[in-house]
Amino acid sequence: MARNLDSKSFPLDASQILGVPILDRQHRSILALLKQLECTPEALITSEGINELMTRLMSQLPEHFDTEEEWMKSSGMPSQLIAEHSVEHTRVIEDLTHLQTEAMKKNTVKVGAVVKIIREWILHHIYGLDLEIKKYVKP
Ligand SMILES: [Fe+2]
Ligand SMILES: [Fe+2]
Repeated sequence: MARNLDSKSFPLDASQILGVPILDRQHRSILALLKQLECTPEALITSEGINELMTRLMSQLPEHFDTEEEWMKSSGMPSQLIAEHSVEHTRVIEDLTHLQTEAMKKNTVKVGAVVKIIREWILHHIYGLDLEIKKYVKP
């Protein structure tokens, strides 16, 4: 499988660092996992392989989303923005769960195609909506 990457040292562009250590650490860890998946060759893998991949993501994402939502509530961010952000978190989890269910129905799937979808969802979120958090970080 892919080489092991150190999540602590995984590079985040300066513009992508929120300035909230625990959230930045979790983002690095999730990005490191995505990077590992990116290194996986576009080979046919079994549905068990996809299941393992999803399990690893699911072991990190819900905890990260909970931590992020707790932080937002204590930051002074307007409740409407928090609610909209939380809806997106829920949608990502639901979409991943749906994708996992669909993948498990097949005997083999192209890992590259699934990884591409997952990467787009998560990167779009971390590099998009999450950057809104920076506005509420107190210096
Ligand atoms: Fe996040
Ligand atoms: Fe988020």
